[in-house]
Amino acid sequence: MPFPTHRPRRLRRTESLRGLVRETTLSTKALVYPLFVCPGTNVKAEIPSMPGHYRWSVDGLVEECQAAHDLGIPAVILFGIPEKKDEAGSGAYDPNGIVQRAIRAVKKAVPDLLVIGDVCLCEYTSHGHCGVIARTRDGEVENDLTLELLAKTALTQAQAGADIVAPSDMMDGRVSRIRRELDAHEFSGTAILAYAAKYASGFYGPFREAADSAPQFGDRRPYQMDPANQREALKEIASDIEEGADIVMVKPALPFLDVLALARRKFDVPLAAYQVSGEYSMIAAAAEKGWIDRERILMESLISIRRAGADFVLTYFAKEAARLLKC
Ligand code: PBG
Repeated sequence: MPFPTHRPRRLRRTESLRGLVRETTLSTKALVYPLFVCPGTNVKAEIPSMPGHYRWSVDGLVEECQAAHDLGIPAVILFGIPEKKDEAGSGAYDPNGIVQRAIRAVKKAVPDLLVIGDVCLCEYTSHGHCGVIARTRDGEVENDLTLELLAKTALTQAQAGADIVAPSDMMDGRVSRIRRELDAHEFSGTAILAYAAKYASGFYGPFREAADSAPQFGDRRPYQMDPANQREALKEIASDIEEGADIVMVKPALPFLDVLALARRKFDVPLAAYQVSGEYSMIAAAAEKGWIDRERILMESLISIRRAGADFVLTYFAKEAARLLKC
């Protein structure tokens, strides 16, 4: 009797053997590319904490979207940086706002590319919060007034041609309010991707530099989820599905793989994960120092997010991963 009898290494000997028994795959079809758009023309301003990512004016954005599409990336998600911000975040729901103009231009130039609109007020409010501030309670974000503005934001994005709207604000009841608004205006075909389990995370730091959206006072803990909570995430996801979310998302990705895995087992709807700005910057910075192998680690992190249960991943590595998957 040879010892040991169990020899899993037999199936690890060559790449074709490993490929034969591989349990999870990563396809370019499962990547969504996040992009920042700002006013002006010919603007391509690098985001200091996210090397390789830029604030694009609409003209350059359209070219970047074309390049992503040429690589086989099926979708982009757009974030707007408006000309000016105000208390009520009016740039978010202006039919001619920066994101609405960008959506129109991208859909016109690259009609097959899916365009997702991020629905939130924080990039548009002068105070940097994701909703309007209550006059009565000290600095608190007012839930139900905010819902009206989010509904308008989603509608104007749908009218501009967004295929999917993605509320990322974490107000209570926003999915059903948005669904009702879209349906009432004959946009029943526009899907909702809900940032369902969105945690109050330090990993959003670089994004806030990119979007200039850091809260001017307080923080987002009164509306985003406590990183210590897992059961609560399942409740948030269940209620978003009940309210009409077509796709639900966990965010950030790598620090919350347990939540993703549980959600995959429990729910039967498409599941997305957002590998957020801080996750990108961490890998980019360590690689820049020569401490880790950038390509290897970005691919490992993406396959891990898929393995945990995400059907697709929003990632700043989208173009790079698409290129690597081609070879
Ligand atoms: C808007 C929004 C944020 C992100 C996506 N949508 C920022 C935040 O909640 O502060 C973060 C994405 C990232 O870090 O890449 N609310």
